[in-house]
Amino acid sequence: MTDTVPAMSSPSAPLLSRGGERVRRVKASLRRLQRRVYRVFAKVVYRKVVMCRLEPDQSIIDFLMAMPLEPCKPTIEVLGPDRYHEVLGSSPQLSAADLAHFDKQESLCVVAYEADRIVASLWFTHGEVYVSDLGRTVHVPAHERYSGRAYVHPDFRGQMLMQHLGHAHRKLQPDMRMWNLVYASNSNVLAALNKIELNLTGRFSTTFILGMRFAKDEEFDPQPLAEVRSI
Ligand SMILES: CC(C)(COP(=O)(O)OP(=O)(O)OC[C@H]1O[C@@H](n2cnc3c(N)ncnc32)[C@H](O)[C@@H]1OP(=O)(O)O)[C@@H](O)C(=O)NCCC(=O)NCCS
Repeated sequence: MTDTVPAMSSPSAPLLSRGGERVRRVKASLRRLQRRVYRVFAKVVYRKVVMCRLEPDQSIIDFLMAMPLEPCKPTIEVLGPDRYHEVLGSSPQLSAADLAHFDKQESLCVVAYEADRIVASLWFTHGEVYVSDLGRTVHVPAHERYSGRAYVHPDFRGQMLMQHLGHAHRKLQPDMRMWNLVYASNSNVLAALNKIELNLTGRFSTTFILGMRFAKDEEFDPQPLAEVRSI
C-alpha cells in the first residue's frame, strides 16, 4: 500500500508541469501579440502626444536674477554655431540633423565641461522649432526662448546641473521669456523643474490618426506645477 503512492504520483508530476509550462508559454505569446497589436495601433491608427509648457513667474525670475552666477564645477560654457559640433556624441538625444536644425535658428547651447568632455547640455532656441516628440514645429516668438534637449550624463545627475545651465542662460539673455516643453511622464525633469517652482502655462499636443496629424496648442493661466493633478 505504502509503495503505490510514490509509484502513482511520480509520473503525474511531470505531466502537470508540462501542462503548466504550455499554459505559461501560450499566455506569454498572447501578451506579446497584444503588445504588437497595440504598437501597430499606436503607430498606424491612433496616437496622441501631449507635452506641457512650463515657465517661472516674475517673482521667481527676479529671485533667480538676483542670484550671482557662481563659478562651478563642472565648468559652464555657452556655445554658438561655430562650436555646436562639440556637443555631438555627448547626448544620445542629439543627432547631426538636430544640429543642422539649431544652426538655422540662432540657437545657443549651454554646456557643462568636466575634464574636456561635455557632461551636460541644454539648448535655447526660437522661431519655427521642430519638436520631434510632437512630430511638428512649434512657433516660438523672437522675444521667447524654448529650452529643450536637456541632457545630463548619468554620473552627474542629481546635482541640479540642468538648473545651473538654465540659470547661466537667464543671466545671458535676461529679457527673454524662457519656457520648457516636457512630457508629463518624465518624472526626473518634472522633479528638476519643480525645484525652481515652475508654473504650467500651456499644453501642446499632436494627435496622429491614420497618418494624419492634428495639432492643438493651448495657453492658459499659470498654475503652480506642484498643484497640477494631471496634464
Ligand atoms: C532630466 C535631467 C536633465 C535632470 O537633470 P539633473 O541635473 O540631474 O536635475 P536634478 O539634479 O534636479 O535631479 C532631478 C531628479 O532626477 C532624479 N535623480 C537624481 N539623481 C539621479 C541619478 N543619479 N540618476 C538618475 N536620476 C537621478 C531625482 O528624482 C531628482 O529629483 P530629486 O533631487 O528631487 O530627488 C536628467 O535626469 C537627464 O538628463 N535625463 C535624461 C534626459 C531627459 O529626460 N531630458 C529631459 C528632456 S525634456
